[in-house]
Amino acid sequence: MPDGPVSSLMSTLFRERLASLHAGEPQLGVDGTRHQIDATTRISPVEGLALVQLVAQVAATRTLEVGLGYGFSTAYLLAALDNRQQPDAVSHVAIDPFQFSDWNGIGVTTAMDLVATSPWLSDSSFQCIHERSDIALAGLLKEGRVFDLTFIDGFHRFDDVLVDFTLAAQMCPMGGVIVLHDMWLPGIASIAGFVRSNRSDFTEVQTGCENLFAVQRVGEDVRTWDHFEPFATEFGE
Ligand SMILES: C[S@@+](CC[C@H](N)C(=O)[O-])C[C@H]1O[C@@H](n2cnc3c(N)ncnc32)[C@H](O)[C@@H]1O
Repeated sequence: MPDGPVSSLMSTLFRERLASLHAGEPQLGVDGTRHQIDATTRISPVEGLALVQLVAQVAATRTLEVGLGYGFSTAYLLAALDNRQQPDAVSHVAIDPFQFSDWNGIGVTTAMDLVATSPWLSDSSFQCIHERSDIALAGLLKEGRVFDLTFIDGFHRFDDVLVDFTLAAQMCPMGGVIVLHDMWLPGIASIAGFVRSNRSDFTEVQTGCENLFAVQRVGEDVRTWDHFEPFATEFGE
């Protein structure tokens, strides 16, 4: 992972854990043993640091993510909340229905260990919801929850991610941000096209990462019931 000035964006606890994750070292699962991890299911260090910077930029205290996996993005988001140095005032919710079946619970184990070790976080700083994102997000919305930053990196089909974005947008306060991962996928790039053309209540935020699409809420959703603006897709129209 990048060293030098960017490393000062996170405390040693998070830097060391992320260095181990990015090095591909076997990680502890819920069964108490170490498991090999694959080399692809992760965000990059540069993307992770962009998330850390976004949390600081919007002074986020409540963060949400769809798609926990091995917990790379989770560790970056917890590092960003740790930086806020506000015990009991910060929280992170991760959604993943396959955390135990596909990932040996490594993401949850990593997150729980980080919050237990950090002087600024506690058990109540992290929650994992083991459900599909559409069900879980609707539940959080019904509870009246609000998230200053939402990171979407779950099931990457166009319609599933559009549902994730639509639900997350309803829990995003003014000034809050929503970030999509994997802009290299036509489905995700097409959602960015839809949001740019149809969601004037959000404005794009530059992160310096071409694989991320980040938007900030700047207004109310005042579209009429039949509103639709054609939008650019990966396929040209
Ligand atoms: C690319 S991985 C996420 C990687 C993670 N953001 C990181 O940086 O370590 C995608 C994750 O989405 C989860 N997932 C798949 N379908 C999902 C759904 N319907 N709702 C929520 N998460 C889902 C998978 O189990 C997997 O953990």
